[in-house]
Amino acid sequence: MIILIGGEKGGTGKTTIATNLAAMRAVAGRDVLLIDTDPQGSANYWAQSRDDENITPRVACIQQFGKGLPKEVQDFAHRYEDIIIDAGGRDSVELRSSLVVVEKAFIPIQPSQFDIWTLNQMDELVETAKAFNPDIQAKVIISRSSTNPSVHESEETGKLLADFSNLGLADVSIRDRIAYRKAAKDGLAVIELKPKDPKAIKEMENLYKEVFGNE
Ligand SMILES: Nc1ncnc2c1ncn2[C@@H]1O[C@H](COP(=O)(O)OP(=O)(O)O)[C@@H](O)[C@H]1O
Ligand SMILES: [Mg+2]
Repeated sequence: MIILIGGEKGGTGKTTIATNLAAMRAVAGRDVLLIDTDPQGSANYWAQSRDDENITPRVACIQQFGKGLPKEVQDFAHRYEDIIIDAGGRDSVELRSSLVVVEKAFIPIQPSQFDIWTLNQMDELVETAKAFNPDIQAKVIISRSSTNPSVHESEETGKLLADFSNLGLADVSIRDRIAYRKAAKDGLAVIELKPKDPKAIKEMENLYKEVFGNE
């Protein structure tokens, strides 16, 4: 499957989600390629620390920029079972061109009004991409939401999404947990982190199921 974790806002957890899904896919025995299109290169840096620490399974990662991306992706699709594209936090050529070749796009947002505003533009980008890629499915993932049960920001954010005709809401949301930061630092996914954070593992496994289904 070819998927994009993208969006125009930085710091929403795109790289965190992309690297976790990539590692989980590799652990499941799939041949997966992570494509880092963000000049900041944090996904690439994560894969590099994984290599440096000899963590297995290895996650192949390349950096790819520019409008030639769709052609490269189609080429890589012959060699890998899964491709996960991490597209940087701005309205980039990489973000636009990825939308043309992916089956599914996931847009992590933090439950704040500022992040919700950026969805207008994402909704339009997906609309435009549909001319070339009519079957694309685009879903917003509420990310880094509060673990405090009295905070209902995720539900409120979900309601606002009804205004966007090209964007759905993922069933699973990802909460703000220290485990994600710790895992990222060592080139790990939360499923590999010790000591374990069972809640982080559970929600990431649920997201994995939502993204890949039985594939
Ligand atoms: N669910 C989460 N819980 C805790 N920290 C997170 C979570 N998601 C991301 N972070 C942290 O927030 C920062 C930005 O996350 P990152 O995944 O790099 O976002 P993006 O790729 O969208 O810019 C990083 O320091 C990362 O470790
Ligand atoms: Mg990133």
